[in-house]
Amino acid sequence: MAFLAAALDRVKPSATIAVSQKARDLKAKGRDVIGLGAGEPDFDTPENIKQAAIAAINRGETKYTPISGIPQLREAIAQKFKRENGLDYTAAQTIVGTGGKQVLFNAFMATLNPGDEVVIPAPYWVSYPEMVAICNGTSVFIEARIEDDFKVTAAALEAAITPRTKWFLFNSPSNPTGAAYTHEELKALTDVLVRHPHVWVLTDDMYEHLVYGDFTFTTPAQVEPALYDRTLTVNGVSKAYAMTGWRIGYAAGPLNLIKAMDMIQGQQTSGACSIAQWAAVEALTGTQDFIPRNREIFQGRRDLVVSMLNQASGIKCPTPEGAFYVYPSCEGLIGKRTEAGKVIETDEDFVTELLEAEGVAVVHGSAFGLGPNFRISYATSDALLEEACTRIQRFCGSLR
Ligand SMILES: Cc1ncc(COP(=O)(O)O)c(C=O)c1O
Repeated sequence: MAFLAAALDRVKPSATIAVSQKARDLKAKGRDVIGLGAGEPDFDTPENIKQAAIAAINRGETKYTPISGIPQLREAIAQKFKRENGLDYTAAQTIVGTGGKQVLFNAFMATLNPGDEVVIPAPYWVSYPEMVAICNGTSVFIEARIEDDFKVTAAALEAAITPRTKWFLFNSPSNPTGAAYTHEELKALTDVLVRHPHVWVLTDDMYEHLVYGDFTFTTPAQVEPALYDRTLTVNGVSKAYAMTGWRIGYAAGPLNLIKAMDMIQGQQTSGACSIAQWAAVEALTGTQDFIPRNREIFQGRRDLVVSMLNQASGIKCPTPEGAFYVYPSCEGLIGKRTEAGKVIETDEDFVTELLEAEGVAVVHGSAFGLGPNFRISYATSDALLEEACTRIQRFCGSLR
């Protein structure tokens, strides 16, 4: 009898973490490597948030907390949903987890039975299908094609729904494409969902605050109140407040689902880190000045990267509405040969040869379920981005 669980046969390690590791290994060997693989802001956590954590330590807030989070944070979350999304949730309808990742995982754990289907737009964040697989569910992918600005159509969503569909997993702005749905685009999808009352909506709004220009963020339960009773709205402080290492994510939804997630978390990690929870209270209730400042910086970087990539031969890079990723197509380079004679057959070949030749680490699109593309995280300095894009231009120009 095999020792390891059968579910593990269906789980892959994270390609984004693998790329970051490969870049670190090359750096350790003395190579000049620019890593554009990691999905985290390069900014430091704002000072007021750090001070709130220090004050919490000094007050002795260093003990176990209630499983679903300290009341002050759950209240701050309920108010955030009201203030920013027009959504009415009581504090009891919220849950705090160790990162958005745990919240998503526990939602699947609490709801999926073998054979249950989760409809996931592709390209997708690498962890979604793996979480579904660990929880014995089945991922059903719908393509969000480059021709459609990486957004799924209502017809594709409609066609993917079966009697076994449990969740539609929505992520806007998206990791890995940065695509964000307008109110009208999202309404087309919620209209479909209204017609299928057995389908629940899991919306991952992690990049809510990172949208550019005059784009207005919206979330499913806001666009279609009829979905409120079957929507779990997930969010967190990692990306918006540069708090990836603090590990605080949260969700709000129907009470029964939140209670089920609480039960799982109670037998797993219990409450999230007490100090990080107090820091998150300050993030959500303190000054929000940091957000527009960062947004402006990210927008400048996005524009720089999109413009430079579109000047690379064979690369086509749409301008995304949000997050800190671009997802250019390298289709124009498939079949070409490097100076060393290697033929680029896939996007994975492209990123491998790019790293080899120019020391630029990016992640191949096939890892996110749609290629031939690659993902660049532009959460790094303008100088490094400019240098990386210059190297990409040189590499693409060298292919024959
Ligand atoms: C789309 C998406 N959802 C959720 C997460 C998880 O965030 P957290 O750091 O809060 O676990 C990430 C992190 O990369 C993400 O990109």
